[in-house]
Amino acid sequence: MAKTKKTIKPNKPYFEPPIDFTGGNWNTQEDTYTQFFYEQNLSQFWRPEDISLQSDLNVWHILPEEVKLAYAQNLLILTFLDTYQGDIGMPVVSRSMDEKYHQRKAVINFMAAMENAVHAKSYSNIFMTYLPTTTIDELFNWGEQNENLQKIMSLIVGTYETLDRYNYLKKYDPKQVTFSQTDFDEAQWKAMAASVFLETWLFYSGFYYPLYFYGQGKLMQAGEIINLILRDESIHGLYIGRLAQEVYEKFDETKQKELKMWLDSLLDKLYHEQAALVEAVYDPVDLTHDVKIFVRYNANKALMNLGFDQAFPTEEVNPVVINGLNTETKTMDNFSMKGNGYQKMKSEMLKDSDFYFDTTLDGEKK
Ligand SMILES: [Fe+2]
Ligand SMILES: [Fe+2]
Repeated sequence: MAKTKKTIKPNKPYFEPPIDFTGGNWNTQEDTYTQFFYEQNLSQFWRPEDISLQSDLNVWHILPEEVKLAYAQNLLILTFLDTYQGDIGMPVVSRSMDEKYHQRKAVINFMAAMENAVHAKSYSNIFMTYLPTTTIDELFNWGEQNENLQKIMSLIVGTYETLDRYNYLKKYDPKQVTFSQTDFDEAQWKAMAASVFLETWLFYSGFYYPLYFYGQGKLMQAGEIINLILRDESIHGLYIGRLAQEVYEKFDETKQKELKMWLDSLLDKLYHEQAALVEAVYDPVDLTHDVKIFVRYNANKALMNLGFDQAFPTEEVNPVVINGLNTETKTMDNFSMKGNGYQKMKSEMLKDSDFYFDTTLDGEKK
């Protein structure tokens, strides 16, 4: 017997939306830090095509095959992370903000656009310059088949999808809502924590190799791109980390402990997958040991962005990579290249001291 199809009438409202719309008023501050992040984000804006990659080809063409492969696989891993951070991570966190936070949503939406329209696109520009189409296709297939990468994506994106469902029910299906505000806050905090792990930690095993070259004065144009991306991810992790800390402060002590345990467990699972992925990519070029130090170094930084103590002991990172992390521009050609010293607007690198806000959210002095 043929099934009868349900008729969908897209023009008929599913529910009556409440008449309570408000506009974003930038004349007042939503909190003591969002407008600061707004300024910083916009002053750092750049386009993938700002950086010409042709001059890298002299070096690229003489690299051994295993080096080329490791370099490309790292950029592919970064592509996957940035793609989903733009597709769902940032948008879902933005959607989870209360209606009144128009400025916060604007900042997060801007960051979302940078993730896949600028960052992921830049990796593709590098692929398109360095590699033939068949190799690019093989690379994407490798990422789709790689169990560790897929598991990492699933652990992170899973928290985004959970928050997405909460957002939807709260907004469009309130009659079905069987969860409390605390349940919602928990889903929101977990997605924010996963987002900070991605921004401040998971990217860095992929950044390591381009920085390793950049620190030695090789593949400088790709290195400039990586430094521009890294500069963006750095403020993304700080901003979402700041928001996450605000949510965390709302929980009672029991809940806070439970959530910290969840975070530690997520860290363990991600570290396990990261370690295996690092071995797969970096063993052929003998850098696994160094990269794992860098992975632990950045895991500590991510925890600090979320307001927690570091999980791993302090270790010395390869000085070549630290040299690559130095964001003062290394190449500058007014006709064909733009170092990251080039900026659309006047923009300063952030310092740790920029993040000590001496007022509470209510504007009271601490
Ligand atoms: Fe990004
Ligand atoms: Fe980001």
